[in-house]
Order: sequence, then structure tokens, then C-alpha cells
Amino acid sequence: MPAAEMLKLEDVHTFYGPVEALKGLSIEVRQGEIVCMIGNNGAGKSTALMTISGVLKPRTGAIFFCGERITGLAPHTIARMGISQVPEGRRIFPKLTVRENLEMGLYAVPARRGGDSPNRSSGSDRCESRLEKVFALFPVLKDRQKQAGGTLSGGEQQMLAIGRALMSEPKLLLLDEPSLGLAPLVAHRIFKTIQEINREGVTVLLVEQNARAALRLSHKGYVLENGRVALEGPSGELLNDERIRKTYLGE
Ligand SMILES: Nc1ncnc2c1ncn2[C@@H]1O[C@H](COP(=O)(O)OP(=O)(O)OP(=O)(O)O)[C@@H](O)[C@H]1O
Ligand SMILES: [Mg+2]
Repeated sequence: MPAAEMLKLEDVHTFYGPVEALKGLSIEVRQGEIVCMIGNNGAGKSTALMTISGVLKPRTGAIFFCGERITGLAPHTIARMGISQVPEGRRIFPKLTVRENLEMGLYAVPARRGGDSPNRSSGSDRCESRLEKVFALFPVLKDRQKQAGGTLSGGEQQMLAIGRALMSEPKLLLLDEPSLGLAPLVAHRIFKTIQEINREGVTVLLVEQNARAALRLSHKGYVLENGRVALEGPSGELLNDERIRKTYLGE
């Protein structure tokens, strides 16, 4: 039986003033998958992620998350429902310490139904246990936790941005160009960690310039061109598609 549908975009149109950046985007992500979106500069990949997280409002079309319509909801509401975004360019807080940066990710933690009972773990215990999970994934962040975020290397800042997004224990993680500007070995390490996060149960929607790495890593891929889907399919098939090989894999 196929896994349950987690995210669905139906004919989404998003504008920047008069500029129509998404021209009827339709995609689907199932629970447990890594899905990638690849495409040239300006294809609409970042716009798609920001529309899903509620930072941008679509003019028309519908977005569903775990069966609920989330179109037009505020970003913090969408975050609390279980969608966490790692923005393009990481956007960590350079003057805050590594630990403080991670704690910022807690703002989206779901409110407990019926309130906290005394024998439930306290908020600070919860914070500690989540920090420990992030530190297990990225031990370097534990070593650097008192250091200002801005002093980290590019790869470490990417780890910090991913770690911060994981603090809210999302169901769906949106990643925008996690390998951008990183040396191949560091990028490889980030891709491995994305797989590890996915194996632990987090569904991933990944935007990448590195189409080959993204397709190798993911279960399903979408090729965006000019604000809509030009091609889609299982990533293994897309890797062998002649058009993709020529246009996106540089063969
Ligand atoms: N703030 C903005 N104001 C006006 N137009 C914008 C704005 N941001 C993006 N656009 C336009 O929307 C389109 C999609 O941009 P988007 O950033 O989503 O592309 P992308 O696929 O993420 O590209 P890249 O690979 O370069 O990150 C582009 O034509 C871009 O010029
Ligand atoms: Mg982008």
C-alpha cells in the first residue's frame, strides 16, 4: 500500500507584484519520502518552498498538509502544524551563540493538548532532549555551542540551520539549496545527514542546484521550469532521462 499523502499543491499561482513566479504548480509528497525539486535559476523553487511555509500567499490554488487545507495560513501556524523550513542562504543569527540559534527553533513547538501535567517533562527538559538529538546528528555543534553562529564555517552554519529547523520536531522539512557554496566533501556530509534525518522519520522536500546529488538522494523528483512542473517521476528514472542528462546533469 502506498504511504499516506503528506503535502499536496494544486495549481498554485504565486506572484511578486505583477511577476507571476509560480504558474500553476502541482506537486505531491508522501509520508516518509525525500522529494526533490530541481530546475534552473529563477524556475520558482524557492518561491514554492516559501509558499508552502506561508511566507508567501498564493493568489490562487490550494495547498494541503496531512489532509488539512493550509492555503493562506500564517507561517507560525503552518510551522506549528509540523512544517519547518531551512531557507536559502541559511539565515542563522550571527551574533547569537550556536545554542541560542538552536533554541530559536523551538518557537514552533506544538502546544500540548489539555496543558502540561506535572509529571510530563517540563519545557526546558524538552529543549534539552531536542538539543541532544541535534548534537547527536551534528557533534560539531555541541563542541561549538557557546560560540557565535557567525564564526562557524559555511558547512557548520548549514548544519546549524538544519539543526534549528529540527528543534520543532517537524513532520516535513523544507530544505532550500543546502549544498550551496559548500566544498564537495562538506556537501556530501550534508546530503548524508539529510538521509539520516529521513530515516528517522522526517519527510523531506529538497530544493537543489546539484541535480545529480538531489536525484541520487531522493525517491521522487520534480523538474521546475518557468514556475511549473516540466517533468516528474521516480528519481532513478529521471537520472536516466536523456533530456535531464543533457540539460541538468551536464552530459
Ligand atoms: N522578491 C521578488 N520580487 C520580484 N520577483 C521575484 C522576487 N523573488 C523572486 N522573484 C522572481 O520569481 C521567479 C522565481 O524565483 P525563485 O527565487 O523562486 O527561483 P529559484 O528557482 O529559487 O532560483 P534560484 O535557483 O536562483 O534560487 C524569478 O523570475 C525571480 O526573478
Ligand atoms: Mg532559490
